[in-house]
Amino acid sequence: MPLRALFPTLVYVHRLSAARRRQLNARLLAECRQLRADDAAGRRWSARNYPGGYTSYASASRMHRRSPTFAALAREVDACVARFARTLGFDLARRTLTMTDCWVNIMGRGAVHGLHLHPLSTISGTYYVAAPAGSAALKLEDPRLPLYMAAPPRAARARRARAGWVLLPAQAGQLVLFESWLRHEVPAHTTRAERVSVSFNYSWF
Ligand code: NI
Repeated sequence: MPLRALFPTLVYVHRLSAARRRQLNARLLAECRQLRADDAAGRRWSARNYPGGYTSYASASRMHRRSPTFAALAREVDACVARFARTLGFDLARRTLTMTDCWVNIMGRGAVHGLHLHPLSTISGTYYVAAPAGSAALKLEDPRLPLYMAAPPRAARARRARAGWVLLPAQAGQLVLFESWLRHEVPAHTTRAERVSVSFNYSWF
């Protein structure tokens, strides 16, 4: 077919090497659980805003400055963000993309993270520390959805690239990066084993 794909939405998905993710995830997992145990303010905030889960979003959102383990993860992510920014064609005019926020999410059974985007940021993403079988996926929404007018629904057999949304399965050791305007959610986590991730924002300074 004489077609051209214009304005693609780029998502960067990278899995750390087996050795690196084994080394990093054991330490991250222990620190995420310790943080939950220590962070009473975060547990109270999560009880109101994140039922079934714990997040340090409102209480400890700069973990890369607080823990050498999270700082080591941040260095891995920095390198990927730099590559992603080059592919996106960003002209940063001698400024650099810097991690501004880094927080922990632990989803128990029934926890949901509703549709949202990350205002005031440039690149956002998540790194999976633990994703037991049956973990909720990351759902990304076609950014053109608000512009759809008389557009017919897409057939169930439509290729993934034609669908209005895409589910990216969670996988331990995997990093997902996207531009912060891309709307996303995590549907209900339905298994008892906890899904643990670290999310972050980058901005340019
Ligand atoms: Ni998000």
